[in-house]
Amino acid sequence: MMAFNASSLARQDLKNLKPYEPVVLPGIIRMDANESPFDFPKEINDYIYRNMHPQSFNRYPDPMAQDLRAALANYTGAPVECILVGNGSDEIILNLALTFATGGNVLIPTPTFSMYEVHSLVAGAHAKFIPRNNDFSLNLDQMISEGKIGDTRLIFVCSPNNPTANEATWGELENLLQNTSALVIVDEAYVEFGGQSCLPLMDKYTNLAVMRSFSKSFGLAGLRVGYLIAHPTVIDQMSRVKQPFNINSFSQKAALAVLEHLTLFKKLIADMMYKRDHLWKQMNNMKEIEVLETITNFITFKTALSADEIHQQLIKQGVLIRNISGPGLENYLRVSVGTDDENKTFLESLLNVVG
Ligand SMILES: Cc1ncc(COP(=O)(O)O)c(C=O)c1O
Repeated sequence: MMAFNASSLARQDLKNLKPYEPVVLPGIIRMDANESPFDFPKEINDYIYRNMHPQSFNRYPDPMAQDLRAALANYTGAPVECILVGNGSDEIILNLALTFATGGNVLIPTPTFSMYEVHSLVAGAHAKFIPRNNDFSLNLDQMISEGKIGDTRLIFVCSPNNPTANEATWGELENLLQNTSALVIVDEAYVEFGGQSCLPLMDKYTNLAVMRSFSKSFGLAGLRVGYLIAHPTVIDQMSRVKQPFNINSFSQKAALAVLEHLTLFKKLIADMMYKRDHLWKQMNNMKEIEVLETITNFITFKTALSADEIHQQLIKQGVLIRNISGPGLENYLRVSVGTDDENKTFLESLLNVVG
């Protein structure tokens, strides 16, 4: 029998990559992943089931997600041929890297969402980090000059940025777009919570792509739907790489149902923003912590104590938030806005810990 060793067969360049390990603590209040805290509305749930033909489950889903893309065209104002739907925006990030970046460089202004780095590595691209300025704005001079060194294929700009909650201005984005031949992806996963979308800039720049998610404002994190708006040539190249049946039939119908009931979802978003502002004010009044401004559904803050300590103490009190302490964000933590009860429990627990 020949020896078999999976780790010696596996790609050596990925040997330091750690599997994603979510914290699973039954019964804990989850305020760590920026999901919507609201149950998915029952009437929309019923509507999806009523519209789901039983035949749909024995047939493959529509590989082009035509109905959903048509509804997205209507929602965003972008032509259908400029829209690609993904199994969450995570899948789109991977497909962008696989389509364009293998063997090349990907610029990532840090601190930011971790998946740009992970998927770049998986695609065999080199992730180049450009630290943001002290106020977390983009270091444009450095981005532009680094972008000219070597073979830069993609630039990810998260706006509003997870986890610093600030956005890039149109002026900054235009400056970047004019000074690079790479594809610039603006990740607008949180834009519905009060940010200014840069979609109108797409009329001027063919190297701009805008990525959005149904996981945050629309409460569909469990069904995995995201989308990319880009020049049709970008979509065409990516369509060669994407799995043909990447979005299951149920998720396609569910995302469509959301877009068909936008008034209701806009009310829920407004409610989340109201709760966010209330929570932010109360946190901002606590002298023991320093809170960043936010236009997202999360609040990032730091304390004089160690973030590890606060994180662990909060878990003991039954609340899970995200410890984001690291380079550029020493002793920072991030809490997702919850329901009124969850926010109250979090605030009381935080006071117990830092007070
Ligand atoms: C900035 C950003 N982009 C993308 C994602 C992933 O979203 P999705 O659930 O659509 O894969 C997240 C999730 O936390 C995020 O924070």
